[in-house]
Amino acid sequence: MKDFDKYEYYQKAVQSPDADSEFMARVYRELREGREAKTLVEDFCAAFALCCEWVKLDDDKDAIGIDLDPEPVAYGRDHYLTELSEEQKNRIKILEANVMEKDLPKGDIIAALNFSYFGFKERPLLLDYFKSCYHRLHDDGLLILDCFGGPACMEPNEHETEYDDFSYFWDQDTYHPLSNHAQFYIHFKRKGEKKRKKVFSYDWRLWSIAELKDLLQEAGFSKSVIYWEGTDEDGDGDGNYTLTEDGEQCESYVAYVIGIKS
Ligand SMILES: C[S@@+](CC[C@H](N)C(=O)[O-])C[C@H]1O[C@@H](n2cnc3c(N)ncnc32)[C@H](O)[C@@H]1O
Repeated sequence: MKDFDKYEYYQKAVQSPDADSEFMARVYRELREGREAKTLVEDFCAAFALCCEWVKLDDDKDAIGIDLDPEPVAYGRDHYLTELSEEQKNRIKILEANVMEKDLPKGDIIAALNFSYFGFKERPLLLDYFKSCYHRLHDDGLLILDCFGGPACMEPNEHETEYDDFSYFWDQDTYHPLSNHAQFYIHFKRKGEKKRKKVFSYDWRLWSIAELKDLLQEAGFSKSVIYWEGTDEDGDGDGNYTLTEDGEQCESYVAYVIGIKS
């Protein structure tokens, strides 16, 4: 069996960059009367898989990825960028930088996915981040955040998802009811091998949608809206997200919170 490549398994188990890029484009079209977003900024981009899918959508789209860790960025350069044509590569710019830095380039969409902003555990810090996003967006810009929650996240638990040749484990190790701080791990187990524990770890604060909406307003966004997942006949999420006013009581959910600049 070939060497274990943690980013390969992360991508298989956690990411859907092709569906995500189409979702970003659709949300912009829906909220901006049919107009197309051109520049996507992928904050916390890691191996910048979303940037690579974004530039494939249309030949006038460009993408900027920002991450402070050179390791996943190098992985993206070696494994995802190499899959693109020269012309597509030229429409991607990667910055090894902190998303809080001044003078970062502007975009039509800033996407902060896989809950990365949950790493900003203090309210003033998250407010500063949202203010920086506000200034990094063009006037018609959108900040697109994913967010998870629900009562199932308010206690430790571990969930296994089985694939043909490996299992992915999403392990919520702790939950602190007074602070909403929680520790998460990703473990993997390839068939016939022992479990590889704590391959990725996340020390987060679980922010509620209501808190995020308040913070976006304070940061200057004129409005924020929610895209909520539909349900299939078994009552499970169907992967189809639409604009909603209400949401729905459920054990756990992933939703998108969209900050509309103006
Ligand atoms: C959970 S991973 C997200 C990966 C990717 N966005 C995805 O959708 O799967 C979080 C990434 O954020 C990066 N990161 C954390 N704090 C950051 C900061 N202040 N500025 C830039 N990148 C940061 C880490 O280096 C890491 O690669």
